[in-house]
Amino acid sequence: MDFLFFPFRFIPATSLSYCCDLDQYSKRLDKQTRKRYLLLTGGLISTVLNTFLTQVYRSVHFATNKEINSIVFHLQLSEFAYMELSLKGKNVIVTGGALGIGKETCVLLAKQGANVIVSDIKEIEGNFVVEEIQNFGGEASFVKCDVTKEEEIIQLTNTFQNQNKRLDIMVNNAGIANKPSFMHKVTTEVWNKLILMDLTSVFWCQKYATKLMLGDRLGGSIINVASIAGLGASPSLGPYCVAKAGVIELTTTAALEVAKYGVRINAVCPGWTETAILDVAGERGKSTMEKNIPMGRLGKPKEVANLITFLASDASSFITGSVYRIDGGTRS
Ligand SMILES: NC(=O)c1ccc[n+]([C@@H]2O[C@H](COP(=O)([O-])OP(=O)(O)OC[C@H]3O[C@@H](n4cnc5c(N)ncnc54)[C@H](O)[C@@H]3O)[C@@H](O)[C@H]2O)c1
Repeated sequence: MDFLFFPFRFIPATSLSYCCDLDQYSKRLDKQTRKRYLLLTGGLISTVLNTFLTQVYRSVHFATNKEINSIVFHLQLSEFAYMELSLKGKNVIVTGGALGIGKETCVLLAKQGANVIVSDIKEIEGNFVVEEIQNFGGEASFVKCDVTKEEEIIQLTNTFQNQNKRLDIMVNNAGIANKPSFMHKVTTEVWNKLILMDLTSVFWCQKYATKLMLGDRLGGSIINVASIAGLGASPSLGPYCVAKAGVIELTTTAALEVAKYGVRINAVCPGWTETAILDVAGERGKSTMEKNIPMGRLGKPKEVANLITFLASDASSFITGSVYRIDGGTRS
């Protein structure tokens, strides 16, 4: 917004197109703010222009610095609220979409106009999400897929192609946490299970989605759900930390390999978020987590869904190979 206002403040009203832009923005403001929205500083040119513009736009008038600051603030807020996410007609797959972060992501993507495949091993819960989306007029269907099985992932990623549609967005979200245990006590069975579920499955999902997106040369967006546990040590969560650190490397490496071809790959790293996955920590564990979060509360699945939706959309068109923490300040 500074860009829009500085020409007005220091080179008063040199271009009518700014006024048109402002008029567009002003439609998004409440009535009172709208009345005060167009700003011109003093000087002969601006006075003449101001008089002229007053005929065109009824609300033109001179503004004080205080008004300018307040209006810039309102415009910034309104621009945030009206950010276009361009998901209309996009085909999306979300793994682990039946519950928690995945569920909220499916709902939000569908609200932005996407056609969503809710995928999970939990059929009943997954179909509830589909119903919720269809109830508000969104497009969704359920496809059962166990992400620990490569053949099922191949089938899942091909779902849209089998319907003569393309896969635009893939959210690799399904994940589990290990029961708290020190590394030297972790059994090979637990280790293998965690690595298969939280790392190898993401490798497969990313691999087959990327192939499809490269195949039709139209690009796409892949979002891998990692964790702040992948960014540094979390005692007792060793296998989970290692798997999530792997997801981050998987993301950044593949992103650079395909950046030129319009396939964007990014990772989000949630901090402790209110979902069933935290049940492994028990009530005491959860309250300790809460105390350690600078914002003093757990994250909400919807907050993570917001970030994923942004990365899925064209609003993030110049972002790839990036890793975003969303953790209330925990790892700052
Ligand atoms: N909640 C947190 O505090 C937190 C923090 C950091 C990262 N994450 C990550 O966010 C992602 C989502 O977790 P959540 O918190 O929403 O947990 P959740 O338990 O609420 O949801 C996980 C979903 O994955 C599904 N799932 C489990 N095994 C599967 C399999 N084999 N195949 C397909 N789906 C399977 C579950 O049925 C469930 O719907 C995970 O990757 C998790 O590691 C969560």
